[in-house]
Amino acid sequence: MKKLRIAIIGTGGIAHAHMNAYKQMEDIEVVAGSDLIPGKARAFLDEFDLKEAKDYTDTQKMLDEIKPDAVSVCTYNSTHAECAIQALEAGCHVLLEKPMTVHLDEALKIMEAEKVSGKILTIGFQPRYDSRMKKIKEIVDSGVLGKIYYIQTGGGRRRGIPGGTFIEKDLAGVGALADIGCYALDMVLNAIGYPKPLTVSASAYDYFGKNPKYTPEEDAKRFSVDDFSAAFVRLEGGITLDFRMSWAMHMDTTGATIILGTDAGLKIEPANPESLWGGAWDGSCGNVTLFHDQFGTPTCTPIPLDDKGEDRFYLKVRSFVDAILENKPAPIPTSQIIYNQAIIDGIIRSSESGKEVAVELPENM
Ligand SMILES: NC(=O)c1ccc[n+]([C@@H]2O[C@H](COP(=O)([O-])OP(=O)(O)OC[C@H]3O[C@@H](n4cnc5c(N)ncnc54)[C@H](O)[C@@H]3O)[C@@H](O)[C@H]2O)c1
Repeated sequence: MKKLRIAIIGTGGIAHAHMNAYKQMEDIEVVAGSDLIPGKARAFLDEFDLKEAKDYTDTQKMLDEIKPDAVSVCTYNSTHAECAIQALEAGCHVLLEKPMTVHLDEALKIMEAEKVSGKILTIGFQPRYDSRMKKIKEIVDSGVLGKIYYIQTGGGRRRGIPGGTFIEKDLAGVGALADIGCYALDMVLNAIGYPKPLTVSASAYDYFGKNPKYTPEEDAKRFSVDDFSAAFVRLEGGITLDFRMSWAMHMDTTGATIILGTDAGLKIEPANPESLWGGAWDGSCGNVTLFHDQFGTPTCTPIPLDDKGEDRFYLKVRSFVDAILENKPAPIPTSQIIYNQAIIDGIIRSSESGKEVAVELPENM
């Protein structure tokens, strides 16, 4: 069997989850890894007993010499665009970690490179493979909610500021609003068919990340992204999106996700509001309830949803591989995630300018 030759770009934390998935696949061979930090790619490949795989500090050199069929881009957010475009231009299919990028212009450049290359680029949102998320989309798709006009989403951790490369503007580019905010946005926007965002009015804060009372002193000194944000987003079709996201706050949760329609409403509660990390919707979901009228009486119907415990990360990587092998479209395409990114970019611009901003996207997307 001819195996698909994979390279990993950026061999830090999440690269391990990609490798764990690839290692379970017989039709895959991980042939190389690159990381800017000398020795890091070698140590990573050795950890997985891949002595034959080549290590690089120069990603372009790896792409030129190894010519992989496909790559996983597992770098911090600020180098997502650069690495994804290098890989597309080298003729590789790309599985790009979330969030797509930091800014919208970089995401548009990725889309352009994708179009020119004819290769698949998919974005790594593993909650899409959660059967409960699929059920939520099924409910919305069934039309039971009627015309959807208002969505509240986000959530937040009471104490959940990560460290590492997540908290520096030069590396992560953006904080909680993209790190976990992109999941909350994807949950609702995917459910309602990814309408185009039109305007964003937002504020972002960093009161906890910079404060050594809440953040280890060394991290507080480096902290240069948001730890809380709130946004009011107008979407095409007269839909309002009310978004809040937190890595840290004096509250258990900023509330459930709600989707209001003219015929019914759907409430998706956080999984563990009592836990310091679990007040968020960042990949977990608690009770789901349909609010509707039955025989003229307001009624609540709990939707029984079990966590089937799928290996969602494996499914995300496998769906990428299947799309390549079976010549299918990208499972989580840029044509959708560009709207997720446009909102994130709008939140950054609006909070910096203190004004509502328009989302400007090319006509011919
Ligand atoms: N899907 C998920 O569940 C999930 C979870 C955690 C992180 N992530 C995402 O994964 C990405 C990486 O997060 P992480 O925790 O692994 O970060 P990390 O800092 O541990 O690893 C990133 C690595 O990329 C390397 N790198 C940066 N630019 C590079 C380049 N041009 N060429 C080669 N290597 C380069 C860095 O040196 C670093 O070792 C982020 O975008 C994050 O949002 C996703």
